[in-house]
Amino acid sequence: MKKFNIRVAQEKDIPAMLEIETSHKMTPHWNREQFVKEFHLSCSRLYVAESEGKVGGYLGLWLVPPETQITTVAVHPHYLREGLGTRLLESGILQARQMGFSVVTLEVNSQNESALRLYKKLGFKIVGSRSNFYNDGEDAILMELQL
Ligand SMILES: CC(C)(COP(=O)(O)OP(=O)(O)OC[C@H]1O[C@@H](n2cnc3c(N)ncnc32)[C@H](O)[C@@H]1OP(=O)(O)O)[C@@H](O)C(=O)NCCC(=O)NCCS
Repeated sequence: MKKFNIRVAQEKDIPAMLEIETSHKMTPHWNREQFVKEFHLSCSRLYVAESEGKVGGYLGLWLVPPETQITTVAVHPHYLREGLGTRLLESGILQARQMGFSVVTLEVNSQNESALRLYKKLGFKIVGSRSNFYNDGEDAILMELQL
């Protein structure tokens, strides 16, 4: 596996993040405006995993005490199943812990088997669901990790 460095994202990373976002079938997709908006929201943090100038994945958080919400996470198709999604999420969880947050939450499409497995592996528990939540008519599964 390439050696990825996780750093704070910059607006210049948006094209690389968009490329990753649109390379996956899962919905909903964020568009350019949504990424830009995240850079200007005071509660929002975006991180990228970079290796030799290439972005391999990204993570978005909302820091709203006492809760850290995972707003997005995705890995480039070239680097799937190499532990990068785990590393990105673990770095977000570590940050939440270090900042004294008590819980990490997220929403995931009920059909997104790989993400559901990843979150369960990291200790997230299902705490609820929202029917017909996504544009494709699928339910959202609500998960949380108590810190
Ligand atoms: C979900 C996602 C971020 C996982 O990234 P990744 O770097 O491939 O994940 P990891 O290599 O860290 O995998 C960790 C665990 O997740 C689970 N997992 C990941 N991909 C999987 C797949 N295709 N099928 C089944 N389980 C999978 C496995 O339990 C895996 O552990 P293992 O490899 O030891 O079996 C990636 O598939 C992705 O970018 N998906 C599209 C965007 C998305 O759906 N994001 C989540 C929105 S809520």
